[in-house]
Amino acid sequence: MITLNEITKAFGIRVLFEKVSFTFNDGNRYGLTGPNGCGKSTLLKIIMGMIDPTSGTVTLPARVGILRQNIEDYLAMNVLDVVIMGNERLWGVFKERDDLYEQEMTDDIGIRLGEIEEIIAEEDGYSAEANAEKLLIGMGIGGEHHTLAMHQIPLDMQFRVLLCQALFGDPQALLLDEPTNHLDLESIGWLENFLKNYRGTLIVVSHDRHFLNAVTTHIADIDYETIIVYPGNYDDMFEAKTAVRERAEADSKSKEKKISQLREFVARFGAGTRASQVQSRLREIDRLQPQDLKKSNIQRPYLRFNVPTKPSGKIVFKLENVDKGYGGDPIIKNLSLEIHKGDRIGVIGNNGRGKTTLLKLLAQVHAADSGTIEFGHQSMISYFPQNHNDLVDKSVDETGFEWLRGRRAGLYDQDVRSVMGKMLFGGDDAFKKIAALSGGETARLILASMMLTDHNVIILDEPNNHLDLEAVSALAYGLADYKGTVVVASHDRDLISQVANKIIVFEEKGIKFYDGTLEEYLKQR
Ligand SMILES: Nc1ncnc2c1ncn2[C@@H]1O[C@H](COP(=O)(O)OP(=O)(O)OP(=O)(O)O)[C@@H](O)[C@H]1O
Ligand SMILES: [Mg+2]
Repeated sequence: MITLNEITKAFGIRVLFEKVSFTFNDGNRYGLTGPNGCGKSTLLKIIMGMIDPTSGTVTLPARVGILRQNIEDYLAMNVLDVVIMGNERLWGVFKERDDLYEQEMTDDIGIRLGEIEEIIAEEDGYSAEANAEKLLIGMGIGGEHHTLAMHQIPLDMQFRVLLCQALFGDPQALLLDEPTNHLDLESIGWLENFLKNYRGTLIVVSHDRHFLNAVTTHIADIDYETIIVYPGNYDDMFEAKTAVRERAEADSKSKEKKISQLREFVARFGAGTRASQVQSRLREIDRLQPQDLKKSNIQRPYLRFNVPTKPSGKIVFKLENVDKGYGGDPIIKNLSLEIHKGDRIGVIGNNGRGKTTLLKLLAQVHAADSGTIEFGHQSMISYFPQNHNDLVDKSVDETGFEWLRGRRAGLYDQDVRSVMGKMLFGGDDAFKKIAALSGGETARLILASMMLTDHNVIILDEPNNHLDLEAVSALAYGLADYKGTVVVASHDRDLISQVANKIIVFEEKGIKFYDGTLEEYLKQR
């Protein structure tokens, strides 16, 4: 059970939510929804005690599992350890025990070691490794990876290890911030089943409608500067929210109409003999005064990518017998393929099979181990990496505006502001520090930079992660409209089917090229 008591959070004059009181009950699975930047991650951080609310208090159970997002901090650690760290109390005494064994034995140390053994027993520490291994295998991370360091396994696996960390130690409440972002459809299925059997309190943030519909029993939606909880799944919430909003709008309209009739009467007879009737109408106007409907913060960005006057040559990429790996077996083996000018290629397939590796080869982040890659004549590539931090360094103290200006020499301030406006950084939002930007806002900033720079080839790796529904649909429009060449990897079937006219499939047996849309590919399979 997690209880919010009159929680308010504001950054400066921007109110995210005001005086919210609510109890999240055991056995219920709450989806926390709302557009990018509405305050979902902020609310989770308040619940965890990582940041303070402006006012109000939170009560929560002793064992809370959290999906962390700061992968960088774990890169040097061993995979099994990262999972076991999910139980902070247990991890703390493991460390303490190691330290104590290093020292010379005294009575005090002996007593403390005894206490530690008790805590380890209480926390089921003797089965810790076995339990951690079970979770990892459930997440599709085989035993050969368990003793590696985090940086030795692919990025999507690293995220899954963090998910295991959150689930470790049988937490009474589970807080997950966009857990499906780095999962393929198969792992999402696994997670859905796992969560449906979870008996504690679950709060999960997601922009993935299918996932929310499969998992949640309630939706807590952040909008109108408050949080409203609806029973049911995402589609139920959407229907109820729209109906309530339409009623409120209709109500407010009819009040306005009534008021304008009454005003007309007052204006006509105010100076005349019907004083008492005028008075009663003035009272009526006061009573009817429509409440200002708070504005929804759902907004749609406007996304168009321009192609410079110089087009690329006809062949944009030509790969011949390319191998690429990271030490062990090559992930990409003997790949040959050509990508032509104007192709819009959707890259699909389960995680861990090399989609990101292929995109990094094309974007020239990596070189091939063997084989050749020819880059076409006059190709200008713009790359959206899966990990935003590769591009936006949040440790640098600068604003979104400054970051964007630095993307290209000779930009005018008004050009930067205009693109920012299209990407929903209007007014003062242009001068937010990049460190403060939410996941979706960071993705929008990267897309804004792609609208400002010259390119005739766009490579995007899971661009829809973090983005809300409005932004994903605007992105699909922008890409379908682009006159250059597109290579986009995504698990979002709607996005791929709207954008792609050719498909690269990463199957278990290898990489296949299909000349047609996703629908055509799925039909012939
Ligand atoms: N320290 C800060 N100073 C100013 N504004 C901040 C700060 N931290 C967060 N914000 C702003 O508060 C808003 C809420 O951020 P939060 O990360 O909670 O959004 P979110 O709902 O999780 O969005 P997303 O769906 O993109 O993950 C954002 O507009 C963000 O820029
Ligand atoms: Mg967030």
